[in-house]
Amino acid sequence: MKNNFELNLSLVVVLFLAAVYIVYEALSIPAGGHPFGHTLGILGALLMIMTEILYSARKRWQIFNFGQVRHWLSFHIFTGIVGPALVLMHTGLVFRGLAGLTMLLTVLVVISGFLGRYIYTAVPRTVAGLEIDRRTLEAQAIGQQHNLTIWAADKPARVQALVQQETARPADHQELSAAAVLTRRIQEYRQRQQLNAAIRKLDKEERLKMAEVKKSIRQQQRLLRQIDSLQTVQQMMGLWHTLHVPLGLTLFTAMFIHIGASIYYSGL
Ligand code: HEM
Repeated sequence: MKNNFELNLSLVVVLFLAAVYIVYEALSIPAGGHPFGHTLGILGALLMIMTEILYSARKRWQIFNFGQVRHWLSFHIFTGIVGPALVLMHTGLVFRGLAGLTMLLTVLVVISGFLGRYIYTAVPRTVAGLEIDRRTLEAQAIGQQHNLTIWAADKPARVQALVQQETARPADHQELSAAAVLTRRIQEYRQRQQLNAAIRKLDKEERLKMAEVKKSIRQQQRLLRQIDSLQTVQQMMGLWHTLHVPLGLTLFTAMFIHIGASIYYSGL
């Protein structure tokens, strides 16, 4: 999910749907009972049911054991965004009673989904979406540190010192807190600023040398942060699951009661 493909695609589809909604609003009075509004509701609910079931099925049922987990999760995220967007259009932006509550629960599940994705992407995974174990990551970090040290060996002293300073692991390094995991983008930004500031103090030749190694330094910094947050992220994902899953089930309970009631009262 590195390249945010599913988020970009969802954004394009949601923007397209917004344009459709503007036309729909120009041509009629949007409402859940309007034939087009109805269609939007049915499509949205179907996508949300797929969101709820398919990814879990891929992870648990042998019969669904095909394709990479990360692709199923990307599809989960895509349907988990577009489905609720269709349901929002279905409401005609009127939020009353159980229908209003169902829409509120939908928004909460989507927000919790984004939080889940942010935590989920805090630790490195195989292309299949499986977590990479600590030992493998430690070996990668040692290998990367070794390459950096060899690279720096014949470089000017200030370059050597900077590489060492930016990638050294504090002897007393500890498991990162949940707050550190949630604010990792800010830390990455600060580390980047700090490195750029240190490089600006070097002379031209040294700066050119550092340009060669900057990307590796950042990779090493990220790797060390991921290693130091592995346990915390696992705990956070576990806690998050205990929120996201029941919230989803509550949403579907409300949604099915809403659908049942609208069928009953509309006498379909
Ligand atoms: C209607 C909306 C949604 C519903 C009903 C829903 C439901 C679920 C369920 C039931 C799971 C647990 C899967 C399992 O482990 O068996 C799950 C996991 C997950 N969902 Fe959603 N979700 C929705 C929207 C989203 C959105 C919009 C995102 C991201 C932007 C998202 C991101 C995730 C992530 C990252 C996981 C954890 C994957 C893992 O640990 O393997 N979800 N969701």
